[in-house]
Amino acid sequence: MNVRLRPALLWLVLVAAVALVPLSDSRAQTAQTRQVMRQKLELSQGLLAGLVTSNWSALGKDSRALASLTMDPGWAVLREPEYARQTVDFLRSADALVDATARRDQAATLVAYNNLVASCVQCHRYVARARLARVWSTAQPRARQRADPS
Ligand code: HEC
Repeated sequence: MNVRLRPALLWLVLVAAVALVPLSDSRAQTAQTRQVMRQKLELSQGLLAGLVTSNWSALGKDSRALASLTMDPGWAVLREPEYARQTVDFLRSADALVDATARRDQAATLVAYNNLVASCVQCHRYVARARLARVWSTAQPRARQRADPS
């Protein structure tokens, strides 16, 4: 094969792997997972509305529902211990929110809400890194094979 083509081929393999792995992951994602993820967003939007209007009953209801979403089988997308740890952090924030809203403590509710949103972002960052790591660990041996077929 033309030697000058090889780097281009390597890039093609890598780009294809990066493009295809998330696709196959999302296909494997169950309808239940999709629903859980959507509910998560709707409930946290409800929390923001409740927070700015001091709607304590809505805050209590939404924060309890958010905490119990973690029990849904659709929540368990990854089996890594780090995912479990991120879930525990999220649950801790959701529980603090349930507690603060039950006491109608606006300052504590605001802090708990901020911590909760931070835990959403933390876990999403971890999930993105975990996917990228998996893509690299599968793409590199293949890329090496292509580069050196002996
Ligand atoms: C313990 C980890 C974790 C936490 C905490 C978490 N998420 Fe997610 N979230 C995920 C995973 C995993 C996905 C699915 C990503 C994928 O499959 O591409 C996801 C996807 C989503 C999506 C995209 C849904 C879609 O239609 O594709 C939204 C929106 C979302 N999360 C919102 C939130 C919000 C809001 C919070 C906090 C209240 C939150 N998440 C907390 C793990 C988490």
